[in-house]
Amino acid sequence: MGVNVYLTDDEKRMLQGEEGFVPQICMQYLVEVCEVSGAERLIDLDGTGDFHTPTTSMSPFYEFSIDELRKLAEAGGHFKIPTFANKSPFYAVPPIHGWEGCNLCSYGDPKNRHDDPAFHEQALRDEWFELYRKMGMMTSHSCANYMTMSFLPTIGMHCSWNESSAVPYCNANLGARTNTDGSFATCFLGKAAYYDMHITENRYATVQIQSERLIQTDIEWDVFGFAVGEAAGVHVPVLLGTGKPNNTQIMKFNSAANTGGAVRMYHIPGSTPEAPTLEAALGGKQPKETITISEADLRAAYEVLNYRNHDSDEVDMVYLGCPHLSIVELMILARKLEGKKCRVPLWIMSSPWLYNVALNLGYVKVFQDAGAVLMTGTCLACMGAVPEGVRTLAVDSAKQSYYITGCYPDEDNRLDVRYGTQDDCIEAALTGRWNGEWR
Ligand code: F3S
Repeated sequence: MGVNVYLTDDEKRMLQGEEGFVPQICMQYLVEVCEVSGAERLIDLDGTGDFHTPTTSMSPFYEFSIDELRKLAEAGGHFKIPTFANKSPFYAVPPIHGWEGCNLCSYGDPKNRHDDPAFHEQALRDEWFELYRKMGMMTSHSCANYMTMSFLPTIGMHCSWNESSAVPYCNANLGARTNTDGSFATCFLGKAAYYDMHITENRYATVQIQSERLIQTDIEWDVFGFAVGEAAGVHVPVLLGTGKPNNTQIMKFNSAANTGGAVRMYHIPGSTPEAPTLEAALGGKQPKETITISEADLRAAYEVLNYRNHDSDEVDMVYLGCPHLSIVELMILARKLEGKKCRVPLWIMSSPWLYNVALNLGYVKVFQDAGAVLMTGTCLACMGAVPEGVRTLAVDSAKQSYYITGCYPDEDNRLDVRYGTQDDCIEAALTGRWNGEWR
């Protein structure tokens, strides 16, 4: 591709196979990433990493076989940086908790029947998972690892992460540095291609986005995120006209902005760590473009996320937990559901590591008593389906709405999605009716 990739002597030795087969393949892969991305060298990672398992996230370049991985793990091979698993490392992404009675087959394939105990037992015993653990991976199985990992990179650290809400969390909210490139190779070697978000110059905002409405509530952050993503595309925006987001709102904004577009970094002057001022966010330059997100833009985004194929206000199921809910969000939800009874299934999704915490704190019981179920480690969009018989789903997440709708492209088999606030969704779960609207 015409890029001259500079390698240290150690890196050259790995590339030539002097450190063994696995480091050689990983180094070949990283050199290829450099060539594709235009990176002229590698950077040593001093932060954390994660990748989508059970694959190595190096496709189509190379996928290690189970035999190769077994050999490596038995020889004491270890990930070089603290490494986490993004979502479930099992075939067809089954839920880790709460799968009993879920009535769902991933992608409608009866081979992936998640409420079949035999299928579940087999999936949980996946050998990839055991080998990765042996190599030091912390199998957190969550798209919101950062809510449970209890070891976060600090400002300026170089990482190798994945996932729509996580990558901006690393860049914009922690001030650490990552591209969307978490893989076996980056985590095993502790190195990544040095381009884009690793480089200070690329982290400054080039687009200034002003909201007409003061963005404050959870749904405003979610809808605004989607609209910002559509407007900013791959550019780094600086956001004006917002309050200071809390953690829930950051997760919502990040996942939505990285769904509507590819926002892996942004600034909010006075709020995000690399933007004490607007000037600092822009690196002392003028923005290349100034965009206003109007009331009409927000409403249009809200409408896109409400996919209506049928006119009925009936709701068959409610899904909360995209991205996976934090412990504080579970606490708030438990408070809202205490003493209530759901008329339609309500799934609440979180990280597996939080399940026992929620159990000890009594939230699981509150959910069960309300007829809801706490599940972990996956999501409807990842499973590519809703339970059999569900025609209308209610969600409070722009990302979930967008992706689950895309799982039903067939005209004759469309899924209706009602999108609104968490309270709209809870009301739908309790009544079986949708009453939400953009306010
Ligand atoms: Fe996570 Fe699934 Fe949403 S992976 S961010 S819950 S679409």
